[in-house]
Amino acid sequence: MDTKILLEARSATKKFGGLTAVNAVDMQINKGDIFGIIGPNGAGKTTFFNMCTGFYTLDKGNIFLEGQDITNQPSDVIAHKGIARTFQNIKLFKYMTVLDNISIGSHINTKTSIIDAVFHTDTYKKDEEYIKETGMEILHQVGLEKYSDSLAGNLPYGVQRKVEIARALAVKPKILLLDEPAAGMNPIETDSLMSFIKMLNSMGYTIALIEHDMKFVMNSCNRIIVLNFGEKIFEGTPEEVKNSVLVQEAYFGKGIAVSRGLSA
Ligand SMILES: Nc1ncnc2c1ncn2[C@@H]1O[C@H](COP(=O)(O)OP(=O)(O)O)[C@@H](O)[C@H]1O
Ligand SMILES: [Mg+2]
Repeated sequence: MDTKILLEARSATKKFGGLTAVNAVDMQINKGDIFGIIGPNGAGKTTFFNMCTGFYTLDKGNIFLEGQDITNQPSDVIAHKGIARTFQNIKLFKYMTVLDNISIGSHINTKTSIIDAVFHTDTYKKDEEYIKETGMEILHQVGLEKYSDSLAGNLPYGVQRKVEIARALAVKPKILLLDEPAAGMNPIETDSLMSFIKMLNSMGYTIALIEHDMKFVMNSCNRIIVLNFGEKIFEGTPEEVKNSVLVQEAYFGKGIAVSRGLSA
């Protein structure tokens, strides 16, 4: 297998009862990509992320990380292997500081067990130091160090989103999956998030994101797949997606698609 390919889905399929939420989807994300997954509500985008990260089992098909078959492995195992994610709704601990929120993400990278934590063993103490240091290092890298002592819940929405993404970096992932990172943001926050994601990418992170904001996708992704009713209906560059009548029909319905066009 080509080592350039970081995350691959082959014929990935998920059914819920009679509904095929994701149907035979093929995808190849290369190292260094900012890869976009778009499509109308209910198209199967979040389900697909859940399949890639072990939250849902596949009914058919396979998921590969750097050529290694990780299909249907438990989500914690997949996280350890290098796939990190954020969720559609912010899941920060509001009454904890930013640094503590980041540290929770780091725990996955350490050997601390509950017993170590309860009895404050040497392993625990060493891990605590390591975790704090790593947390500060990450905040520093991504330019959020000034918020380290702030309570997460007191920060503006746009900053909370960045902290959530920074927390996902604590596991030192090979790829970062972001589910609608710009949802609920105003245009200024959206622009700032876009710069943030591009910065992470230039630092070497490969990113896959689901996003409704077409401008966001068109201006940040180098490659895009379009899902509709669980099927991949198109794949291409932002320019190709923008010009695809198929994609316009999926979003706006037949007939009006051509006259409206996709605004980017
Ligand atoms: N756990 C589940 N049980 C049953 N149906 C589900 C479940 N998760 C998602 N679905 C269904 O699968 C389809 C795709 O949902 P989803 O992946 O959330 O879409 P998207 O993220 O593209 O908006 C929808 O019809 C949704 O209702
Ligand atoms: Mg979704």
